[in-house]
Amino acid sequence: SELVEVNEKGHMVFAGRDVVELAQTFQTPLFVYNVEKIRKNAKAFVDGFKSLGVKAQVAYASKAFSSVAMLQVAKQEGLSLDVVSQGELYTAMKAGFPMEKVHLHGNNKSREELKMALEQRIGCIVIDNFHDIALLKELLVDYDGTMDVLLRVTPGIEAHTHDYILTGNEDSKFGFDLKNQAKQAYDQIKQIDRLHLKGLHCHIGSQIFETDGFIMAVKRLYEVLVAWHVQDGFEATVLNLGGGFGIRYTDEDEPLPLDDYVSALVDEVTKEAHAHGLSLPEIWIEPGRAIVGDTAITLYEVGSKKEIPNVRNYVAVDGGMTDNIRPALYQAKYDAIIANKAHAPKTYPCSIAGKCCESGDMLIYDTLLPEVTPGDILAVFSTGAYGYSMASHYNRFTKPAVVFVEDGEAKLVVKRETYADVTQNDLSYE
Ligand code: LLP
Repeated sequence: SELVEVNEKGHMVFAGRDVVELAQTFQTPLFVYNVEKIRKNAKAFVDGFKSLGVKAQVAYASKAFSSVAMLQVAKQEGLSLDVVSQGELYTAMKAGFPMEKVHLHGNNKSREELKMALEQRIGCIVIDNFHDIALLKELLVDYDGTMDVLLRVTPGIEAHTHDYILTGNEDSKFGFDLKNQAKQAYDQIKQIDRLHLKGLHCHIGSQIFETDGFIMAVKRLYEVLVAWHVQDGFEATVLNLGGGFGIRYTDEDEPLPLDDYVSALVDEVTKEAHAHGLSLPEIWIEPGRAIVGDTAITLYEVGSKKEIPNVRNYVAVDGGMTDNIRPALYQAKYDAIIANKAHAPKTYPCSIAGKCCESGDMLIYDTLLPEVTPGDILAVFSTGAYGYSMASHYNRFTKPAVVFVEDGEAKLVVKRETYADVTQNDLSYE
């Protein structure tokens, strides 16, 4: 299980801080990020490319966790940024993120989104469908610059954890299929002077623990690039291979070191480029989970218990699917400890329930904790990705606060919502 640091009070220590004290100071539920770990993850990717002498952009997929402070850390680490909506782009603007390092995704980009992207002169738009091309063509009439674009394709490889599935014609709402649509889109983009096609993009899945899927994707992309090169001399200057690098949630997960993915991608792209006499493109990637996933914990306060003999012991906490929907949505697994009893023997078999009015609102099934009492602080590990960012107001819960810890200092970076926040857009009907 997790290597947990414990102090003389028997309290869990995270990023050098007593988490029971953090819970008292900032209340619960609380997301606590270890900023040094975020920087370390970012550097593993960035330095991985650097050490191999390859031009690259490591774009943080901000959907994993977007906030002004987070994007400022990403900026400090020299990352680029993947945004998938106007809201994520707006957050990047508020964070002072360099717009030339922002890439816009989306399978249904609105006119406003594309307009904002053009006006902000972001670095790259990832074209996902023919509607994108039509809208951009229209918008570029009133625009005096050029825009770099990538073409998103579905290479027919779907990778998940240790498995990947080969599908001839991938059933996906994203991107162009490689057989027919990609060529059509390529021809259309070439007709638009002020769109500069830099290359291709693909994203094969999430929480991937093997490099094979990525390698196969590179091979597929090169089949197309070679055809276009033969046709009219096109040379890609960028290949964006998406995100999806896996992390450890529980002991069942065995992730690769992050730079293993980097070297596998670099090897394969180099091999393919050389084999076909093409110049080496820049390699771009878009990790979200692998940058932030294992850098945060969520702290909850334990409240009620329900013991059903021979069936199950429920331990309820003061959050749940409103701050972490992943267990309910994906049967995702997490580990947790009682932070104020970090040394106590784990003798109490139980399952951890949220407090939403919904049976499926469970955080962890079948774990072992020490004997729990109301007021205990539960710490759930590896909640940094797709936790806060997928939080909701179900049951009119307020969204939790987020704290960043660095150099032993804990700083509030997202305020806890108030009930006034939750009801602020409600208008009276009497
Ligand atoms: N690039 C593209 C085009 C993506 O669609 C995604 C994730 C990423 C990058 C980042 O993937 P990552 O490195 O974080 O695995 N809510 C789900 C994950 C959805 C991911 C969607 N796309 C979860 O909680 O597991």
